[in-house]
Amino acid sequence: MTDILNRIIAVVSGKGGVGKTSLATNIAAELASAGHRVLEMDLDPQGTAALVWRLPAMPAMYNVLNDDAQIQDLVAEVEPARWTIPGGKEGGSLHLLPGDNTTAAASIGLYMKRRPIGLLRELLEPLLEQGVYDFIVLDTPPSVHPLAPYVYAAAGMAIVPTDCGIEGLDGFLRTKETVEASSDSQMEIVAVVPDRIPHSTALHDRVISDLHERFGDMVVPPLMERDVWAKSAYMGKALGVTSRRSVAYREFKIVYRHIVRELRKRGIEA
Ligand SMILES: Nc1ncnc2c1ncn2[C@@H]1O[C@H](COP(=O)(O)OP(=O)(O)OP(=O)(O)O)[C@@H](O)[C@H]1O
Ligand SMILES: [Mg+2]
Repeated sequence: MTDILNRIIAVVSGKGGVGKTSLATNIAAELASAGHRVLEMDLDPQGTAALVWRLPAMPAMYNVLNDDAQIQDLVAEVEPARWTIPGGKEGGSLHLLPGDNTTAAASIGLYMKRRPIGLLRELLEPLLEQGVYDFIVLDTPPSVHPLAPYVYAAAGMAIVPTDCGIEGLDGFLRTKETVEASSDSQMEIVAVVPDRIPHSTALHDRVISDLHERFGDMVVPPLMERDVWAKSAYMGKALGVTSRRSVAYREFKIVYRHIVRELRKRGIEA
């Protein structure tokens, strides 16, 4: 893997509704607010990233993956007022490559045309090398899905949100197995994020300690179930814009700082 692929961060999980889009959009917002040029890509046929940023859902992912359209011709700029967190640095930008239900057809198209697993990597790597973007954040559908191997071959780092139920843990283990088994994958899971965690129940404590036992330092402090997450998505703004003083945002920043440290370990300042 070339080091530059560590600038591609994928948010993946084995289960739906665990907070992937919330994490991806907020990581992208935070990086942009730190003065970086950020591209967020929505690989989920639900097209939720566009919904959150109040941009039209479009078949952009389909056109790029299936019709060889240029990413730069199809990205949409996210209004700075939606992601600019007070106290950040100047110079950042956030663009979205939106998806919609045609993304599902694109993944079948890739399979039918036997497109190489490195396709997504080959599309993204030049954008980083030429300095068009500093970071690329991939929001994904719940794995295991047909686009998963393309994501695993493109991203250097993965963030895995997981809930506390048995399905969440199982979903994470399957994600990990799939990543490790995927031949062209160099992707490293750098954070397991216990997410949407209900307030301290015996189950919660048990699952968190179970996760720690198995995955050690990779497990970051949990993001608790807090209403402001849904509120910020509803308002079409990053959490740090809607609710900068909230406990939820403080919890998120702990996760974000963990990602920044992982980037630094790989020689990348964020
Ligand atoms: N920590 C949290 N506390 C409360 N609500 C949350 C939290 N994180 C996310 N949510 C809300 O939960 C819902 C699902 O979150 P999100 O869309 O981020 O999950 P997802 O994993 O991307 O789902 P999908 O698999 O459908 O793509 C959203 O309404 C979101 O606002
Ligand atoms: Mg999502």
